[in-house]
Amino acid sequence: MPALDIAQEEVGYLTPEAMTEVAHALNLDPGYVEGVATFYSLFHLEPVGKHRLYLCTNLACMLRGAYDMLAHANRAIGVSETGEVSADGLFSTEEVECLGACEYAPMLRLDHEYHYDLTAEKIDGLVAERRHG
Ligand code: FES
Repeated sequence: MPALDIAQEEVGYLTPEAMTEVAHALNLDPGYVEGVATFYSLFHLEPVGKHRLYLCTNLACMLRGAYDMLAHANRAIGVSETGEVSADGLFSTEEVECLGACEYAPMLRLDHEYHYDLTAEKIDGLVAERRHG
């Protein structure tokens, strides 16, 4: 998994070539590597934004407005659908299962950072920070 993570960081997503390269480097069956990549939702087999906003929509977050936050995040990055990559290639959103911090719902993971008690203003700030930073 760390090798797939590195490949994803370098290429942006896991292309068939990247998975084959990982399989050869680790002396593993390419089918096994592809199986791992397709099993875990944090691996991407399609292009994604440089910065990924993972919004939890499980029960606690849903009850505290996760779908409004997801819609707001999509508007903030300028896309009409979850999963779409912004025109500048910088952002994409993804709906995910519980991030393990339900008491701080709604929750967002932005790349490798967790953000609690999410609000529309927090999303705007995070997007602006990444866009200009
Ligand atoms: Fe969203 Fe658990 S339900 S973090």
